[in-house]
Amino acid sequence: MNAVCDESTLVLGIETSCDETAAALVMGGHDVVSNVVSTQIDLHAAFGGVVPEVASRAHLDVLNPVIARAIVEGGVDESRIDAVACTVGPGLVGALLVGVSAAKALALAWDKPFVAVNHMEAHLYAASLEDPTLEFPLVVLLVSGGHTMLVEMRDHGQYRLLGQTIDDAAGEAFDKVARFLELGYPGGPAIDETALLGDPDAIAFPRAMKDEGLDFSFSGLKTSVMNYVRKHPDVGDADIAASFQMAVVDVLVHKARRAAKQVGATGIVLGGGVAANSLLREELLGACEADGIQGFLPSRSMCTDNAAMIAATGWHRLRSDGPSSLATGATPNLRLPLLD
Ligand code: KG4
Ligand code: ZN
Repeated sequence: MNAVCDESTLVLGIETSCDETAAALVMGGHDVVSNVVSTQIDLHAAFGGVVPEVASRAHLDVLNPVIARAIVEGGVDESRIDAVACTVGPGLVGALLVGVSAAKALALAWDKPFVAVNHMEAHLYAASLEDPTLEFPLVVLLVSGGHTMLVEMRDHGQYRLLGQTIDDAAGEAFDKVARFLELGYPGGPAIDETALLGDPDAIAFPRAMKDEGLDFSFSGLKTSVMNYVRKHPDVGDADIAASFQMAVVDVLVHKARRAAKQVGATGIVLGGGVAANSLLREELLGACEADGIQGFLPSRSMCTDNAAMIAATGWHRLRSDGPSSLATGATPNLRLPLLD
């Protein structure tokens, strides 16, 4: 299929895979024309985690207004939109279905191409939205609530998985430790803030698999924090949060750096919700500077779930593969398309 896809192609992106309802307009795969995100964090906070049914319902309530706002804020008429891109996975099936149904309905009604987007691939593209000059090969450290991956981005659409977690995701570890310390939800920002007042060297928590390959393991660290707290009830939360955070960041940065050396990367790019972590940002930049490569940290709003990255990825996919079939369904366990 030969879809016209050039610098003036305007893509509407839609994202509903988890707990953010988002819509954005992006032109030419890199110019963000509008970017609207409605977060459900407050809705789920009372439950200490995302409740799938609550998420789907909330997406249903706000998706249409969010899309309308993205179009109004973009200052364009809807007839100007050339394609509709939407996350089809991975994510919560009920949540995904809301966005996928809306995107297909709009594509059909407007007689424009529908483009199915992989949410993880979109996280890889988020950085290039803010710095289109990034040069391949890049190493992307993707750290979210559900994933922890080191990916080599050789070119557009060409990815190699260098390493991943064998148990908990980094964000999951932050969330579980924060819940255990009763610091609130979501755990990452709570630990980040609490850690500011603590000593990162106060407790030597384990750095699992630090010198073994490029995979990660965080579930032992979480258990180790719990055991430590039970044995030392008088040690303050700040020192525990700071030491835990240091242990996670130490391993993440060490492995990202090793991965970059291994593939001869021009730089390391951060992505995913945990990329908002202040210590991770600081340590990664320091490591890249020491190694003479570029360290690129997208803004916090571009690291967390948004639809601008979906629209940008949709533009690249439309250019390389053409429109997706309207028979494409929501796929909760969708994998990143990898080179063999
Ligand atoms: O990418 P994301 O918004 O959602 C998905 O998981 O897809 O990532 C959410 C995760 C949560 O685990 C949250 O605790 C973590 O990112 N997070 C952070 C910070 N901000 C968000 N973790 C550490 N430090 C932060 N400042
Ligand atoms: Zn995400």
